[in-house]
Amino acid sequence: MILKGKHILVGVSGGIAAYKSAMLIRELIRRGAEVQVVMTPMAKQFITPLTLATLSKHPILVDFFDPENGAWNSHVSLGTWADAYVVAPATANTLAKMATGIADNLLLTTYLSARCPVFVAPAMDLDMMAHPATRLNLLTLQERGVVVVDAAEGELASGLSGKGRMAEPADIVLAMQDYFSRTEGLLCGSRIMITAGPTYEKIDPVRFIGNYSSGKMGYAIAEELASRGAEVELISGPTKFSVQSSLIKLTKVESARQMYEAALRIFPTCHAAVLSAAVADFAPAECADEKIKHHGEMTLHLVPNPDIAAELGRQKTASQTLVGFALETNDEMHNAQGKLQAKNLDFIVLNSLADKGAGFMVDTNKITIIGADGEATEYPLKTKVEVAADIADRLTDTMNNKQTRE
Ligand code: C5P
Repeated sequence: MILKGKHILVGVSGGIAAYKSAMLIRELIRRGAEVQVVMTPMAKQFITPLTLATLSKHPILVDFFDPENGAWNSHVSLGTWADAYVVAPATANTLAKMATGIADNLLLTTYLSARCPVFVAPAMDLDMMAHPATRLNLLTLQERGVVVVDAAEGELASGLSGKGRMAEPADIVLAMQDYFSRTEGLLCGSRIMITAGPTYEKIDPVRFIGNYSSGKMGYAIAEELASRGAEVELISGPTKFSVQSSLIKLTKVESARQMYEAALRIFPTCHAAVLSAAVADFAPAECADEKIKHHGEMTLHLVPNPDIAAELGRQKTASQTLVGFALETNDEMHNAQGKLQAKNLDFIVLNSLADKGAGFMVDTNKITIIGADGEATEYPLKTKVEVAADIADRLTDTMNNKQTRE
């Protein structure tokens, strides 16, 4: 939501990737931004102004003035209107002119007048991309604070294959969101640890004890906190998910013991932790070196795993916030309150498997948050992304209260 209401100027220069700028504009508008588009004269050969004007809901700007009525397209007012300027695609020619300060079209004069953060998404043939002149131009722009959303490798319009494809519109938007999260997010300057997913406790090289946790809730919380500017340390058991935001550092583990060790190492460097992992309570006393063969009945000797939450609860300082989860099937409130106290949590997020649409392997969740004072707040059934925002709101409040009490 960090792009909501932002004025974003999209600069389109003349390359075949210009067709992707239509998707970029749509993605920005979907996130609530107001978009205006400035094109180089050459860009009009690659995508029609009508397409971009329709998507951006504004007339396209190409010339310094309208030849019909002489109305002046002021690069100065465009440059001050914009909260961000993103040149995508940025051709080798446009990058070279930006780097040297040449101002022979509206896209370039606007760049020189812009006071806002500037992003460029280079797109060109692989040899142009690899040329020392282009590399130096990109370096010059980067040194000047321009954010380069790097080109990807793959098939190019020339038929050759290599580095030069413009970054996907979704990745350009992500880079812009990350930039604003880092500079404007409410949680800027805070570090938060998250545990997510299941743990696998090995029985032998091919078998393990696990659970149905997908990790979706924990990953959603990590993305939500990063979108608010927090530096996130995500410790994840085996899941199919990957992280989007560059503010999230992912540590992958498999067993509860590995998660425990990572958590103990990382928590002292964090302001808060949200423990959403479904940690296995027991692990086989030993893992067989070879696949166990069938011999009729067998008994597994299990030993308890360390309780990460309880240990962090013991180590927690007065300024740190600790949040746990309780997934219950019965006697929910009583069990959750017990865990809240036993593990010294600041609040606990309760979800009940008795509620339809809550718990494992679904996209929705229905939570109740119980505070350290025992007060319970019930939330309606929501998507896990919306639930992540509710948890992030509560966490932000709790962290702020601790700060003001310090
Ligand atoms: O498993 P249990 O219901 O006790 O989990 C409650 C909370 O404790 C959860 O936040 C979970 O991530 C955490 N936990 C943990 N280490 C364990 C067991 C649970 O951190 N070994």
